[in-house]
Amino acid sequence: MLKEFKGRTAVITGAGSGFGREFALIAADRGMNLVLADIQADSLAETETMVTARGAEVLSMRTDVGDAASVEALRDACLERFGAPGLLFNNAGVAVGGLAWENSVSDWEWVLRVNLWGVIHGIRCFVPAMIQAGRPAHVVNTASVAGLLSPPTMAVYNVSKHGVVTLSETLFHDLRMVGAPVGVSVLCPAFVPTGIADSGRNRPENLRSTQAPTASMRAAQASTEKAVRSGKISAADVAAMTYEAIEQDQFYIVTHERIMDSVRLRVADVSERRNPTDPFSMRQDVAPTSGEGDG
Ligand SMILES: NC(=O)c1ccc[n+]([C@@H]2O[C@H](COP(=O)([O-])OP(=O)(O)OC[C@H]3O[C@@H](n4cnc5c(N)ncnc54)[C@H](O)[C@@H]3O)[C@@H](O)[C@H]2O)c1
Repeated sequence: MLKEFKGRTAVITGAGSGFGREFALIAADRGMNLVLADIQADSLAETETMVTARGAEVLSMRTDVGDAASVEALRDACLERFGAPGLLFNNAGVAVGGLAWENSVSDWEWVLRVNLWGVIHGIRCFVPAMIQAGRPAHVVNTASVAGLLSPPTMAVYNVSKHGVVTLSETLFHDLRMVGAPVGVSVLCPAFVPTGIADSGRNRPENLRSTQAPTASMRAAQASTEKAVRSGKISAADVAAMTYEAIEQDQFYIVTHERIMDSVRLRVADVSERRNPTDPFSMRQDVAPTSGEGDG
């Protein structure tokens, strides 16, 4: 169980904004070295400046978590500078909405690449070194309540985050099975004010949708923007809860207590073989439209 943070190293993806930046600030305050990774260079540099001002040693690298070679280069630089990390935050993420059959191939590829492959590469690249180091260490994978529930008009995001939850649960078992001193947590927040509703800002040119957004995509985007903006728990609160969970070796980090009713309902639907209950309210604004499919 990781108890001593001082002098250890935290690797954080998506470190330029939102949760990633807050994880970095707490790590700096706890005397950790930092490996900061993000695809957006300017915001990454801002986080670097903030943690350097708090006295942290920093390695900052522009990284695309969906690209195997990019994460391997991050790993190599981290091992050379600081050695194996004590903390690994696989946190970078992006979102799109819309009715399941209207999302384009590029919507699926972009979001799965960042949200799921990003976590896969993080585990693949860093966990072997963490095991080999033989010291207490911890992996935090950022999923979402969308990894525990299946809200409508969020198929792409839901699939990516359910993937992160099952990957994290399996990683937990695998590490226990081999007796490695590496803990795992999966972070499942509801809506929190961050840059997530504007994640299209970092969508690569080659994975842009070539067709105009459908009505369901526009409605999903508007409702996500509103929900994210109205979130009462801050990114700093979520980061603080995450460090508490790491110290307690707690696996599931569900930051919004009220969402647990929907989680329990889903589990009950499965165990009773009932049809799934919509975890949010039914929304007329995303009723199917014709002729607006996006490939
Ligand atoms: N904010 C919420 O309401 C909320 C709720 C549940 C889960 N999450 C998850 O939290 C995580 C962090 O998001 P956030 O809310 O802080 O949003 P954010 O947009 O503020 O931060 C995400 C960061 O990921 C970076 N990023 C995007 N694509 C990348 C790539 N290919 N490689 C490396 N970095 C990349 C962005 O530049 C950004 O700095 C995500 O996984 C998100 O899905 C957010």
